[in-house]
Amino acid sequence: RLPIHPEIDSVIFSEELIQARVAELGRLIGQDYELSDLLVLGVLKGAFMFTTDLVRYIYPYPASLEVDFLKASSYGSGTTSSGVVQLDSSFKKEAVRDKHVLLVEDIIDTGHTLSHLVTLMRDAGASSVRVAVLLDKKARRSTPFQADFTGFECPDEFIVGYGIDYAEKYRNLPYIGSVKKEFIKHD
Ligand code: PRP
Ligand code: MN
Ligand code: MG
Repeated sequence: RLPIHPEIDSVIFSEELIQARVAELGRLIGQDYELSDLLVLGVLKGAFMFTTDLVRYIYPYPASLEVDFLKASSYGSGTTSSGVVQLDSSFKKEAVRDKHVLLVEDIIDTGHTLSHLVTLMRDAGASSVRVAVLLDKKARRSTPFQADFTGFECPDEFIVGYGIDYAEKYRNLPYIGSVKKEFIKHD
């Protein structure tokens, strides 16, 4: 086994557990959409790892499956959400018009990012919009939001890894863990 990162307190979701659950989600999604063409839209940066793993498990898939990404962020480098979702200017409405869109996110926290993005997809004329999220931090919700596919319920702890950062660090960890207190700067 690889050693745990020195700034990580404990592993909350192991690599094995994550991979097993992502495989299940992929199968469920594949069955659910069956024969409709699907646009999988990963939300950068946090969902980069979940998205690339998930699409491998939405297979075999009989219809066509496209993968794309959009970049949205609200946290900056701090530990609390600004509440303002910033979208990368490269997003084009035409890219989702008349498509079945599956938004893929690493985590729902306050719910701001996903409620904003779902509204945006509907406004852009998507045929349907659904959401797959790896982690659901229900305790922190300020905007009501329910995903269609959820990996795990997540404790209200400061977590990183598997795409999720703290001040841009730890995204590469293959597991999800909590950061040691001495490495968190509170704002
Ligand atoms: C994080 C995370 C989700 C969002 C969840 O992104 O990846 O996208 O916050 O929080 P919310 O439910 O309160 O909106 P962040 O803004 O940190 O950008 P990043 O993905 O580039 O790290
Ligand atoms: Mn994000
Ligand atoms: Mg972040």
